[in-house]
Amino acid sequence: MTLDLTKYIATVPDYPEKGIMFRDISPLMGDGEAYHQATDTIVSYARDKQVDMVVGPESRGFIVGCPVAYELGIGFAPARKKGKLPRKTIKADYALEYGTASLYMHDDAIQPGQRVLVTDDILATGGTIEATIKLVEQLGGVVVGCAFLLQLKELNGLAKLKDYDTLVLMDY
Ligand code: PRP
Ligand code: MG
Repeated sequence: MTLDLTKYIATVPDYPEKGIMFRDISPLMGDGEAYHQATDTIVSYARDKQVDMVVGPESRGFIVGCPVAYELGIGFAPARKKGKLPRKTIKADYALEYGTASLYMHDDAIQPGQRVLVTDDILATGGTIEATIKLVEQLGGVVVGCAFLLQLKELNGLAKLKDYDTLVLMDY
């Protein structure tokens, strides 16, 4: 049976600031069948792309990307927030839906020419994923797909991804 995954996204008005409708994926990842279905859909999308590595931005990109990497039998490399990676890093800045930040990767996390699937839970403005892609490309990786549980359509993050193959499981 195919589940309607939208039933596993909780909407929280005015969080973390007034005027923001927070889409919470916790019910989805808290339900074994729903989490499995979402993961399997992304794995199917990735299977014919000869992906070598999955990369996801801290922290919810890990929740989406790690089970996909596990299922594909390949590695996962994190793009992390400031001060988390102990060895030599590269950095990309981005503007969030609320605030600004930077993401970092170890400079040996991706080998030149590796085919990379980038994952995150939500595509909003696209700033986070754009920074993640920049990091992968700086390391010589080739982004062959981007997968999200959901997008916030009015923020038009897909415009930033027009040169990339993209999978979005749910539209909001
Ligand atoms: C949220 C979400 C995406 C990003 C989407 O992450 O998980 O990564 O915002 O927004 P954007 O498309 O406008 O960049 P957040 O930075 O809140 O951190 P978290 O994943 O650690 O919760
Ligand atoms: Mg995030």
